[in-house]
Amino acid sequence: MSRPINEASHPVVQRSEAARPRGLRTDYCGELRSSDAGRTVSVCGWVARRREHGEHLAFVDLRDHTGIVQCVVDGAADLRSEFVIRVTGELRLRPADKLNAAIPTGEVELGADVVEVLSASEAPPFALDGRADTDEQVRLRYRYLDLRSERMQRNLRIRARVNAAIRRSMDRQGLAEIETPLLWTPTPEGAREFAIPSRLQIGSFYVLPQSPQIAKQLLMVSGFDRYFQIARCMRDEDLRADRQFEFTQLDLEASFVTQEDVWEMVEDSVLEATRDVTGEEPPEVVRVTWDEALDRWGTDKPDLRFGMEIVRLEQAVAGSEFNAFKAPAVRALCVQGEGALGRGRLDALTDRAKKLGAAGLVWLRVVAGEQGTGVALESPVAKFLSAGEQSAIVKATEAEPGDLILAVAGERQLTCQVLGQLRLELGQPPVSEPPYRYLWVTEIPLFEGLDEAGNPLAAHHPFTMPHLDDLDRLESDPLSVRSQSYDLVVNGWELGSGSIRIHRADMQRRIFSVLGISDEEAESRFGFLLGAFRYGAPPHGGFAYGIDRLVAILAGEENIREVIAFPKTQSGADLMASSPRELSDRQLAELGLRIIKPPARGAQPGS
Ligand code: AMO
Repeated sequence: MSRPINEASHPVVQRSEAARPRGLRTDYCGELRSSDAGRTVSVCGWVARRREHGEHLAFVDLRDHTGIVQCVVDGAADLRSEFVIRVTGELRLRPADKLNAAIPTGEVELGADVVEVLSASEAPPFALDGRADTDEQVRLRYRYLDLRSERMQRNLRIRARVNAAIRRSMDRQGLAEIETPLLWTPTPEGAREFAIPSRLQIGSFYVLPQSPQIAKQLLMVSGFDRYFQIARCMRDEDLRADRQFEFTQLDLEASFVTQEDVWEMVEDSVLEATRDVTGEEPPEVVRVTWDEALDRWGTDKPDLRFGMEIVRLEQAVAGSEFNAFKAPAVRALCVQGEGALGRGRLDALTDRAKKLGAAGLVWLRVVAGEQGTGVALESPVAKFLSAGEQSAIVKATEAEPGDLILAVAGERQLTCQVLGQLRLELGQPPVSEPPYRYLWVTEIPLFEGLDEAGNPLAAHHPFTMPHLDDLDRLESDPLSVRSQSYDLVVNGWELGSGSIRIHRADMQRRIFSVLGISDEEAESRFGFLLGAFRYGAPPHGGFAYGIDRLVAILAGEENIREVIAFPKTQSGADLMASSPRELSDRQLAELGLRIIKPPARGAQPGS
């Protein structure tokens, strides 16, 4: 469900002198009020609805980007849905029994003296106010009509307001907006890349940037000090609710800064945008380390809109005879008020935990103790737990009669992740519901696992500065090394990430060597950045967040497609513009390309 933009402080169209209606109209449809009654006005827009009123008159709802006003017109006029018309006449108060409190213009109507048809319309393929019932494929094929709907008008205007708020914040903080190339070269974000064939150098390709990462670091070497860009980025990855091929980042970078400086710059812009759209002061941005996020919420993208934090039970069950609890980590969730869950649901939860990788799930119903004193635990495994252990578990989880305790034992990371997922499934409000609980996740591990060759994989990108306290373990125990990188999370979504960068050749060589990237490979992939670093690179760091994601959250949408004017479908197609499409033989020849079609499905190799 989408929510209204903060109309009070930011009407859809700003009522500044420069934004007043011009040209063919004196007013916007949605802004006429009872105080305007008696004025002669001209409004322009699309026919949203027509209702006959007796033999001679018709009510026409006229729509523009600000809303709808009811016009009373000569019933003989040929006005059909989506005709573009201009209506001139006197605005008058509606009779007391005809008021419509559901719309802001519901106290007035426009008695049409002159109706001009500016443009006719064929019958639209779907009713614009019945958008929810229309197949999305149809909406995307006729996106220009879909965008006329109130919801899409609101979403894209929220997006415009977010961009304006970001620019205000960046300007206030002295960041310079600098554009960087789209026809570029590989960047280090790690997704598959889009390539553009060069006509002038047959056989060579430009690569579309996955982000302006390298370009912005070069701008630091160039001495720009503080840079930002509302940057288009391109990644050829599987599309999901929060992913498109083309998306937009607020990208920033600054020299001679600490992590805290970057966080403050980013926070200023995100909070300004949030305040602007919602009209409310968002809660303070929390900071937690990656380690702490894992322990408390079982994820690096915690949703802080509800409690149900993971609890440590190691102390409560230390020395327990119960075999399942003889594990490095024993953790639990207290699910309030769910103590009455039936065996079917509990078995399903156990299956779910196993599917997520846990060896099993221990459930304990919390009930009132005998003769109403204290509490007791009901569970097939309760007999394996001593009275002392049971009361320690209840104490640690702060459980009360009627609650359900779910415990998992095993290796720490997996145990926390399983409980983190169960927490979301049992307690999650929809992603798009306020309040907006932003948090920084800091001290993220420098590496995430190993590749097939046994080399550590960079968790962020290979220019990320390690945590200085962990440098002595870089070669001996790389997976334990923290980094100076950080993510911004809101309501369970990753909004952005960034880091303090490596700016010295010796450290960069050390990291490349741990990553198993040879000098030649480093030179061929990032040679021009490493070259620039030989000429005096300032210490620098930065960040990028997804504007599509931020706008979707603020607009109350679950899919970023709803906040992008012309998005791609799940299969990467633009149904309206019919892209991607084949090129003519002449275009292919000019680019030196020949198409090798993949074999048809089911065809035998060689056939
Ligand atoms: P990263 O790759 O984490 O970092 O991207 C930053 C943010 O960009 C958004 N994002 C996307 N949004 C929509 N569709 C996509 N396919 C998509 N991919 C990423 C997310 C993500 O958090 N150069 C680094 C930043 C830095 O270090 O300064 C970078 O791009 O919101």
